[in-house]
Formats: sequence, C-alpha cells, structure tokens
Amino acid sequence: MSSTYGEMLRLSIFGQSHGAAIGMTLDGIPAGLPVDFEGLQTFLNRRAPGQNDWSTPRREEDRPEFLSGIVDGYTCGAPIAAIIKNTNTRSGDYSNLKDCPRPGHADYTAQIKYKGYQDPAGGGHFSGRLTAPLCIAGGLCKQWLEQKGIRIGAHIEWLHGLNDTFFDRLNPQINEIPTDFPVLSEYKAQRMKEIIAEARAMGDSVGGTIECAVTGLPAGLGEPMFGGMESRIAQIVYGIPAVKSVEFGIGPSAANIPGSECNDEFCIQNGVVKTKTNNCGGILGGISNGMPLIFSATFKPTPSIARPQQTVNLRTGEITTLEIKGRHDPCIVPRAVPVVEAAAAIAIYDAYLEWKARK
Ligand SMILES: Cc1cc2nc3c(=O)[nH]c(=O)nc-3n(C[C@H](O)[C@H](O)[C@H](O)COP(=O)(O)O)c2cc1C
Repeated sequence: MSSTYGEMLRLSIFGQSHGAAIGMTLDGIPAGLPVDFEGLQTFLNRRAPGQNDWSTPRREEDRPEFLSGIVDGYTCGAPIAAIIKNTNTRSGDYSNLKDCPRPGHADYTAQIKYKGYQDPAGGGHFSGRLTAPLCIAGGLCKQWLEQKGIRIGAHIEWLHGLNDTFFDRLNPQINEIPTDFPVLSEYKAQRMKEIIAEARAMGDSVGGTIECAVTGLPAGLGEPMFGGMESRIAQIVYGIPAVKSVEFGIGPSAANIPGSECNDEFCIQNGVVKTKTNNCGGILGGISNGMPLIFSATFKPTPSIARPQQTVNLRTGEITTLEIKGRHDPCIVPRAVPVVEAAAAIAIYDAYLEWKARK
C-alpha cells in the first residue's frame, strides 16, 4: 500500500476501520509551532459521523491521542504521531464481503490484490474513516498556514445536480460558509438536506462536488513539471475515497471558450500584480500566481446502499443478490468538506515549506 504523501513533510496514514486504532505520523515539521488542540477538535468534529440527520448513525468521538512530536503545546521537531481508537465497530456486518463484493466499493479489487488477506471489516484500510487521521494532519497544517495569513475554506458546490452559490474566484466568500452544513445559500442548503433525506428513504445514495479556496497564498509556490500545485493537490485529493474528479479554476469549461476569454489579463492593484479574472484558479505553470487558489473535487454517491444489488459470489462463481448491512452515509459530501480542506492544507503547507527553503 502507498499511504504516504509529501516532499518536505512526510505524512503516513495507518489503520483499518474496525482495527484497534487509526492514526498518522507527520514528519519534517519545524520545531516551535504552536498547536491549538481545541481548534483542532472543532475541526475534527466537522467530519465525525453520527452527529446529524445526513450522516451515518455510527457515532465516533474522533478524539486524537498525541503520542509524540508536541511538548507543552508546541511542536518539538520530532515526528508527530497521533491515534484515534476505534470504539463503535460492528465487524459482523461485513463478514460476507470477501466472497460477495459490494458494487462500487473496493472489496473486489482488494480481494484480487491482497488475495483474501485484506481486512474487509468496515472497508478496512479503504474506509472513509481513514480520512479522520488525514484531518488531524490537515487540521494542524491549516492552523500553521493561518498564522502566515493563508486561509482555506470549502463548501458544497453541487449536490445531486443542485448547485450552491459559486465562489467569487477573485474574492471567495470563505468567511460566510456555515460550519454545520457548509453551503452558502440557505435555501439551497435546505433543499440539499431534503435530497439526502429522500435518498436515505429510497435506500439509495447521492454524490456531489466540493469547491475549495485558498486565500493569502504568495506567488511562487510549486515546482514544474510534476511538483506543480495542481499535481500536488490532485495527488492528495485523489487519495480521499470516492473522489472521481479534481478541477482547477474553470476546469473543463476551458475547452469551450477562446483564449481571449480564458486568459486572465494582468493589472496592478495597490502596487501588486494581480489578474482581472481568475479562470486559471490561481495557478500558472504549476506555480501559484498570488490570486486565490480555487479547485473542486467531485465525490461519487456512497457505494453501500440499502437496496438489493447484483454481485458475483467469488467463491462459487454464481451471480447473487447482495443486501448490504452496516451503517452508511446516504451522502458523504457534507462530511467530506473538512477532508478536502485538510488535504489542501497538507499540500499547500508542503509546498510552503519547500518555497521557504528555496527562497
Ligand atoms: C468521509 C467519507 C465517508 C465514507 N463513508 C462511506 C460509507 O459509509 N459507506 C461506503 O460504502 N463508502 C463510504 N465512503 C466511500 C468509500 O470509502 C469509497 O467509495 C471506497 O473506498 C472505494 O474507493 P473509490 O470510491 O475511491 O474507488 C466514504 C468516503 C468518505 C470520504
């Protein structure tokens, strides 16, 4: 498995959904950075399950225990290690998935690759639960970036075909995003909650797109060709389970407009070079240009649904009907919003450390 990320910082994520614990190690972090534990817990609570009508009833506290790397509230330069103990598991719910893989989940590919030795309980290492340690690392990086004036915020841009107010790409409204259900328009938020409730009632699930903005980023972060900001962010965001596309700026719409519309013309504002539009999403040649960095990530509908579905019994070779037990989100998008922020924070902080070292 390849559960590590980063050039200057090195993040490793470990654990399985129903194992003893999940956790992370984060190496390469400078000494002397303050850690706001309360702020981190508030951030982790935004992802934790079982807190509202639109998420899985699996209730987990998601309280990290720090084992190393932080002394008296400051990083000490040693690798930071943290775990979250798994408390609310029902592994019996998953006993038949090695033989009868869930459509849309990783059960089949894991069975082929790990020859039956993988841990199927709760999705094992493929579970969305592994995004909790990602949020520990990302929550810390987010705090350290904020101290440098770099802020990250995300909202649900689309949910099952319904769109929220889009970010103003020149001045994204990250201060206006509510934390409980991260949607800018109150009316759309209500309608999105109804769509999720309808999917749950039908035994089905729905997907959506999360739009993320980074403000206060200096020009000059990122390295061509494969260390560019798009590559670094895409690599970590695609590591989030259920992500099917990542787009920067106007994304695929760039295919449908001429260069005269797509190019962001330069101007001077208060003595600083800016652009009049931000179609490129704040990145040119893989390098940040000082404008807000804007990207979006699309999540597919939750694979585990309550409706009977056809699968193959891999032991007998027979077609069979699968009825999925266990507790699942009818839509993972609301809980994935802080996860996308966390992934962005890790990628940006990694690039920031590199920029500082080479300046
Ligand atoms: C926060 C979060 C929670 C998730 N919860 C579930 C879940 O309850 N049930 C489920 O089947 N998939 C869930 N997933 C998605 C699966 O983990 C993912 O679809 C699966 O590992 C296959 O990977 P892939 O979709 O990237 O191919 C969740 C993903 C995230 C990010």
